[in-house]
Amino acid sequence: MRRLTIAVLVATMVDLSCSSKAAPADACVEPETGLPTDVFCTGLYANHDPTQHSADALAYTPGVVLWSDGAEKHRYLYLPPSSTIDTSNLDAWKFPVGTKAWKEFRVDGVLVETRLFWKRSETAWDSGTYVWDAAGTTATLNTDPKGIVLPSGYEIPKQKDCDKCHHGGSDRLLGVEAVALALPAAEGATLTALAQRGLLSKPPATTTVALPEEASGKAGAALGYLHANCGMPCHSSRGLGDETKLVLRLRAGELWPDGSSGAAASAVSMTDTFKSTVNQDPTTAAVAQAFPGAHRITPGAHDKSLVWLVSHLRGNYQMPPLVSHRIDDVGTQQLADWIDALPK
Ligand code: HEC
Repeated sequence: MRRLTIAVLVATMVDLSCSSKAAPADACVEPETGLPTDVFCTGLYANHDPTQHSADALAYTPGVVLWSDGAEKHRYLYLPPSSTIDTSNLDAWKFPVGTKAWKEFRVDGVLVETRLFWKRSETAWDSGTYVWDAAGTTATLNTDPKGIVLPSGYEIPKQKDCDKCHHGGSDRLLGVEAVALALPAAEGATLTALAQRGLLSKPPATTTVALPEEASGKAGAALGYLHANCGMPCHSSRGLGDETKLVLRLRAGELWPDGSSGAAASAVSMTDTFKSTVNQDPTTAAVAQAFPGAHRITPGAHDKSLVWLVSHLRGNYQMPPLVSHRIDDVGTQQLADWIDALPK
């Protein structure tokens, strides 16, 4: 009796291994809508190995980046064969259908999530994040309706959070834009590299720009911090923070004054960021009440400047208001240094 059971078990195991050979795990079927469940079916990785990236995925780093509670990030862009990004409006890129962008997040050196934006049609994008298992061997699409907070305190956002920030992109993507890819700190598929590879429909004459700067030498870093952390996602004419008319996004037109030819960067005081903050009061009554006497920026006093106060805060009134649980000490210090150097 016992023998028989073992024989049946062995037979079942043999059978199972055969059937898994017949239908290999890497046979990915592209879903008609929505994202695949398995990260290895998204096209980023080769050989089921998160350390091997597909040769079609262009690695890049924007010249200014979003603070993600200290996570280390790597970004990749895929454009369908023979396609170009429509850059006829240098400040509002339009991506070809089929474009994919991924962002990997490592916390304390461990890969925890891989996010994906995929353009499915002229008007629709799918987005979501893949959560890696502890061994780092598989990652599955996150369908948890709530954000997942890891023991380290790092939060993996829920699907619904993606568009709260990515609404600020002209066509969803945020860091794949002229300004961020033209700055000196950009790497990989920079604006120069994309232009050289013929991937821009209308490349600007100059493909590198500098952040606006002033005599103190403190403005550029602060404007770059505000651009990536506040302006790209929300505080621009196209972001969810538009109603306050607080504009913290640097437009291509501010860095390329005639829109493309690339003359010197415009004066700090001419940027939308400067004009909508310095000595300007908040438009939200609750904010004005919570921080009495503070302008958006009070020259010479970062502790009386709302943009610093809320970004150097976690809890009520924190900015950005979602996903982040740790203060960006370096970025907020750059902001404080600029504000303190502004003449009273
Ligand atoms: C708090 C705002 C915020 C949230 C929430 C957010 N993102 Fe982003 N994301 C950004 C910003 C800003 C960038 C560009 C700067 C950078 O890469 O550091 C970016 C970049 C990316 C990129 C690289 C391509 C690009 O747009 O520049 C991908 C892919 C991405 N995010 C996916 C996602 C997905 C998927 C979600 C939801 C699970 C999500 N993001 C949630 C703000 C956000």
